[in-house]
Amino acid sequence: MKKKLVAALMAGCMAATMFAGCGSSAPKEEAKSEAKSEAAEEEKTEEAAETPAAEGSGKVGIAMPTQSLERWNRDGAYLDEQFKNAGYETILTYSDNKAEQQVNDIQNMIAEGVDVLIVAAIDGEALNTAMNEASEAGIPVISYDRLILNDAVSYYVSFDNYTVGTLQGQFVVDALDLENAGDAVYNIELTTGDPADNNAGYFFNGAYDVIKPYIEKGTLNVVSGQTDFASVATEQWSTDVALERAQNILGSYYADGTQLDVWLCSNDSTALGVAQAIESDYAGKNTVLITGQDGDEANLKNIVDGKQTMTVYKNVSNEAIVTLKLAQALLEGKECDASLIEEFGVECAYDTESYETSAGNKCPSFLLVPSVITKDNLQDLVDTGLYTMGSDGYLSAN
Ligand code: GAL
Repeated sequence: MKKKLVAALMAGCMAATMFAGCGSSAPKEEAKSEAKSEAAEEEKTEEAAETPAAEGSGKVGIAMPTQSLERWNRDGAYLDEQFKNAGYETILTYSDNKAEQQVNDIQNMIAEGVDVLIVAAIDGEALNTAMNEASEAGIPVISYDRLILNDAVSYYVSFDNYTVGTLQGQFVVDALDLENAGDAVYNIELTTGDPADNNAGYFFNGAYDVIKPYIEKGTLNVVSGQTDFASVATEQWSTDVALERAQNILGSYYADGTQLDVWLCSNDSTALGVAQAIESDYAGKNTVLITGQDGDEANLKNIVDGKQTMTVYKNVSNEAIVTLKLAQALLEGKECDASLIEEFGVECAYDTESYETSAGNKCPSFLLVPSVITKDNLQDLVDTGLYTMGSDGYLSAN
């Protein structure tokens, strides 16, 4: 009974959104009141009362990509905890980095009658079947962290992914003081992420846009010549794939004693592979500057040990809070725009220009703020309450 009322309200909200987009008032109010009266009518004619929906606000499907990459275990746990504490029933799945499995997992959630879907896509272009079914069922979709390229998506919650990249690029520029490098030349290599992950392009472009002027000036020299996205991409963000490519590059271009100064990696799982390759296959005595992203435990250890220089930290606990608050507003038919941000209690931007679910179809997005972590500010991670510093100086996630 309650579910039908919620669904009808949702349909009203969605209908209003389709006509007028989130944040406008007139058409939505009209659609909502029509939806309410239809639902009330339907409710009156209902014969057998269904079992009342679970206490709380409804049922949420949470589809995470994999457990093989550390951060998604945290995302899944934080999202599940946030929604359960808010009174929702949850279905949490991890799809082992298999796009077809993720389609099935989402279809099962739809069959289970979820009221909203929270999806971190394995492949942003491979979920159309499930997304179209969600749309037909009137189930709103929040694209979580990685954008799904399907118009069934109602909202996108992530970090400013382009800024993740610019932070990495700017870190290299600042650490080597490239602005004042004169005739000095620094050798650099690049590794980004999974081509199926819509984020990878933003990370890579953000970083490359910062370092490109120094490559053009000759201050930075990509010895392997590999600077295009396809050449530097890493299938499924795999540590082993990043390791093997780094070993090949070191064997081909640095075995003659050429010094390697920087390896710009888009995230920690790839940085881990690159650091292992440098340890095993690079003969130079200098410390190579390595970037990363996510604050994975093994990489934080490498940062303490001087084997990685920085990581871009994204507080995914805050990402889960923003997702909860947005889902609640969506299900209650509230305005889903910048006015929500004050309820989040975390720094977040409302962006209606940067992301599209299809050509020209802008996706309203809530983007949290990433930050740079080095050995000098590891305490910032401890201060989040999400990490503990051991007596050995290494951090572990709580
Ligand atoms: C990206 C995500 C990053 C990165 C990668 C690995 O989409 O935004 O945090 O770690 O996936 O899962």
